[in-house]
Amino acid sequence: MPSRHVRATMSTATLTRNTDSSQPLVDLLEERWSPRAFDPEATIDDDALDALLEAARWAPSAANLQPRRFIVGRRGTETFRAIESHLVGFNRAWAFRASALIVAIAEVATADGDARRWAEYDLGQSIAALAVQAHAEGLHVHQMGGFEVDGLRDAFGLPDRFVPVTVSAIGTVADPSVLDEQAAARETAPRTRLPLDEIVLVKE
Ligand SMILES: Cc1cc2nc3c(=O)[nH]c(=O)nc-3n(C[C@H](O)[C@H](O)[C@H](O)COP(=O)(O)O)c2cc1C
Repeated sequence: MPSRHVRATMSTATLTRNTDSSQPLVDLLEERWSPRAFDPEATIDDDALDALLEAARWAPSAANLQPRRFIVGRRGTETFRAIESHLVGFNRAWAFRASALIVAIAEVATADGDARRWAEYDLGQSIAALAVQAHAEGLHVHQMGGFEVDGLRDAFGLPDRFVPVTVSAIGTVADPSVLDEQAAARETAPRTRLPLDEIVLVKE
């Protein structure tokens, strides 16, 4: 099958950057991407936010232990400000426009100190589900690893066994012109991936 071309088109404030996949994917996977240009006026209502968190809640986990916790702050709240203040500089330059920030936390050990070996894997699956649900709700998610882990942990009084792994910005896509020139260029660049024959080590 011929590979489809990357679409980076924009009509009014809607930028789509579909995959250049070699096989057809379900629409939500085809269309999901991680913007930095969020609409600073857009808000997220309770039902939409809960739909995202439900998607995270229903993701699979090893032995169904569900070692994932979340801190959720909507723009304009103290929680949002506390999360945002612990993002690294580059992320702070754009994530403040998001409608919500969500800290994804892995419970890496039980209260008795037993290690939960798959905690981060399980957490990642829940954020993947959340991102797909967000797209179905007309929202976008941009995950970030660039934040001060210890500062964020202190700000919310998290015990050592709760490890903040990512912060996700969630919101409505805006025109890339809300970003500075360099970030706007990245926003519209083709999305790329390693080829299948590089990531699949064995296929018989
Ligand atoms: C664990 C993780 C950490 C990331 N950290 C950052 C970050 O700190 N800042 C940022 O702008 N993007 C970050 N990203 C976004 C990735 O750069 C992005 O997902 C990747 O380039 C693929 O683009 P796409 O999601 O549009 O397909 C992160 C993504 C993941 C999954």
